[in-house]
Amino acid sequence: MSTSGPSAVDLVVGGGIVVTPDGMRDGAVAVERGKIVAVGCDAAMPPARQRINVEGRHIIPGAIDVHVHFREPGFSHKETWATATAAAAIGGVTTVFDMPNTNPPTSHPDAVRQKIAMASSRALVDFGVYGYVGEDNIDLLAPMAEAGAVAFKLYLGSDNALVPCPNDGAVLDALAVIASLGLRCTTHAENTPILNWRGARLKAAGRTDLAAHLEQHTDIAAVEAVSRIALFSEWTGCAIHIAHENCRHALPLIADAKRRGINITAETCPHYLFLSMEDAEQAGGNALRVKPPVREAGHAAPLWDALTSGLIDMISTDHAPHTRAEKWRASIWDVAPGFPGVETSMRLMLNEVSKGRLSLPQYVRMACEAPARAFGLYPRKGALQPGSDADIVVVDLARRAPILGERLQSIGNLTPFEGWQTTGLPVMTIVRGTIVARDGRIVAAPGGGRSVHRGPASAAPACG
Ligand code: NCD
Ligand code: ZN
Repeated sequence: MSTSGPSAVDLVVGGGIVVTPDGMRDGAVAVERGKIVAVGCDAAMPPARQRINVEGRHIIPGAIDVHVHFREPGFSHKETWATATAAAAIGGVTTVFDMPNTNPPTSHPDAVRQKIAMASSRALVDFGVYGYVGEDNIDLLAPMAEAGAVAFKLYLGSDNALVPCPNDGAVLDALAVIASLGLRCTTHAENTPILNWRGARLKAAGRTDLAAHLEQHTDIAAVEAVSRIALFSEWTGCAIHIAHENCRHALPLIADAKRRGINITAETCPHYLFLSMEDAEQAGGNALRVKPPVREAGHAAPLWDALTSGLIDMISTDHAPHTRAEKWRASIWDVAPGFPGVETSMRLMLNEVSKGRLSLPQYVRMACEAPARAFGLYPRKGALQPGSDADIVVVDLARRAPILGERLQSIGNLTPFEGWQTTGLPVMTIVRGTIVARDGRIVAAPGGGRSVHRGPASAAPACG
C-alpha cells in the first residue's frame, strides 16, 4: 500500500518488530531525505511514497564494522571498494572503518583524501578511513584528522613493512596528539620483540605448521601489549580501542582499565568466538592463519561472556581477504594472514540468536550502538531514532542457508566458515534511506557511500 500527498515521507518500513538495545516492539520506521523521522506503531506512521511491509520480520539499525581491510589502493587483486561494500551491504553492514595498510598506506593527509575520494566513487555503504600512526608522521596526525580520518590505527606487533610499529617514545607522543584531536586510537596490541624472537626461533627449528604461528603469538605477547597501551592511555588521556581481542588472559586487564576510568573500548571477531585451533583442519588448515591467531579451545567461551556482558564492547570482523593462491601455501610463514568476514558476521551472530544464546537487543548493542558511541557517531549512526541516519536492516530470523565462499562478494572469498548452516539472515539493507541490498542481491548503484567523519559541513559555526 502506498499513499502520496504533500505531507508524504519517502519511505515507511513497517509491519515488523523494531529492535533497539532496550527491547523490541511491533512497529515501523519512517524515512525522509535519508533520515529517520518517526519510529512507532504502524498506525502512527505518516503517509509514504513507498511502503515496505516486512511481514513480521525484525528491523534493526545497520551494523557498524570498525575493522575492515578493503585493500584499495594497492591490492585490488584481493578486494576492491566495489566488491567489499557489496559484501557489507548484503551482510547487513551499513558503515565500515577501513584500515590503513593499503599501498600507499594511509599515513599522510593526501592519502586520506585520496582514499575518501576513491571510496566515495565506489562504495555502496558509508565508511570511515583510519589514519596510520608511525614514527615519521606524528606531525601529520592533526592534518590527517583535518583531511577526514575518522580514527587512528596503531600497530604494536606487526611485521608489515608498509605500516611498521612505532617505538614506545613515538607512541606516547602520538597518543598525546590524538588525545588533543578527540579521536580514538585503535591498537593491534601485541609485543613486537616477543613475536620477532619467537618467530626466528621457530623458523630456525624448521617449523612450518599452523601451531607454530600460535606459538609465536603467545598469550603473554597480547597481555603485555594490552597492559602497556592501557597505561599509555591513562597517562596521555588518549581514548584507545583494542582491536581483535582473542585472548582470555587480557580480559581482566581490560576490566581493570575500565574500572580505573581509562577511556578504553574493545572488539572481538567471529573467528575468535566460533573457532579454535582444534577446528583448524575443518576450517582450512594453514588457511586459518590470521593475526592475531585463533587460539586453543578455552578462549572462545570467556570472550563470548565478555562480549555479552559488555566488557568487550563490540563485534567487528577484521575483514582481511586474500586470494586462494596467497592462502594456500605449504609453509605457514608464507600464508597471507586473514580472511573475509564482513558478509558473514551478522548471520553468524543471528544464528546464535536463533539458538537462544544471544538476544537481538544485545546484538544491536554490540554491533550497532556500541561502535557508534565509541567513535563519536552516535546517535547519527547505530540507532533507530528520529534524527538518525536511515541505516536500516531487515533480518529474517527463520531463514536457513549455508555459507559458501564462492557465493560471497569478496574477491578473496576463502572463508573458515565454509559449509556452515546458519539460521537468521539480513534480507534488506538500507543506507541513508536508499535500499542497497535485497534478498542477497545488490539493488543500488555504487558510489552512494559517504565518509562519516565530521567534516567542515557539520562543524560548529565560528560564531553565534
Ligand atoms: C591483516 C591483513 O591482511 O591486512 N591480516 C590479519 O590477519 N589480520 C594484517 C594485519 O592486521 O596484521
Ligand atoms: Zn586488521
